[in-house]
Amino acid sequence: MTDRISVREAGHGTPLVLLHAFPLSSRMWRDQLDELPGADGSGARVLAVDLRGFGGTELGEDEPSLDLLADDVALLLDRAGIERAVVGGLSMGGYVAMALARRHPDRLSGLLLADTKATADTDQARANRERIAAAVLARDSVRLLVDEQVPSPLLGATSVQERPRLAERVQAMVEEASPEAVAWAQRAMASRPDSLDVLAEVRVPALVVVGEEDAITPPGDAEAMAAVLPDVVLTVLPAVGHLSAIESPDAFNWAVRGLLARVEGE
Ligand code: MLT
Repeated sequence: MTDRISVREAGHGTPLVLLHAFPLSSRMWRDQLDELPGADGSGARVLAVDLRGFGGTELGEDEPSLDLLADDVALLLDRAGIERAVVGGLSMGGYVAMALARRHPDRLSGLLLADTKATADTDQARANRERIAAAVLARDSVRLLVDEQVPSPLLGATSVQERPRLAERVQAMVEEASPEAVAWAQRAMASRPDSLDVLAEVRVPALVVVGEEDAITPPGDAEAMAAVLPDVVLTVLPAVGHLSAIESPDAFNWAVRGLLARVEGE
């Protein structure tokens, strides 16, 4: 476990831990930190985590593993005095949330899975991750990721056409990532297991959100997760791509408020 996990925090209501996409940071949750606590802060206690190597959290010396990132989140909850939280992740953050559901199920009061999938990588996907990891380390630059992923496929077609400032914001976040963290995260994601069996055992309210135009984890992946989760709402956001929380924050936050209300009503 890493000693120092950097977190952006706002509000004092139901704890909501948010885990970012690859290769971004807690900065991607700006609109959730601003809006979900509400005017008096009681709407949620939002904790937006920087996963290892990203934002303000150091990478450390451990071998790549999403399980370590899940253990980091459990440690963070211990230190914050939070027994159970709604844990949500977008894409890579969703993989970490699923690892947490496997390793620390008693820490969940709710589960939010956004633009992610429960299936393991294919051999081809693993090989592509290793190509990226090797290239960014060899070049000591993450430029390759900007070239290959910004604005598409990270953003949806509608955002690319209609919201050019979003692409600039996403590019700036990608450029902040270090080659070492990018390589580590790619290798960690490559070794993750299938989690459909874990989702079938989740006993807390769950929300699955996906952008209709998500080209990385399309709606079919969301439907597969929703099909096995016992208590789930599936929300498909129109005119939105992979980064739904950034591309359509109002609709995303509305869906999350619905999850918080279900959790509070338990
Ligand atoms: C992400 O957005 O976190 C990544 O696209 C996830 C992945 O590479 O599988």
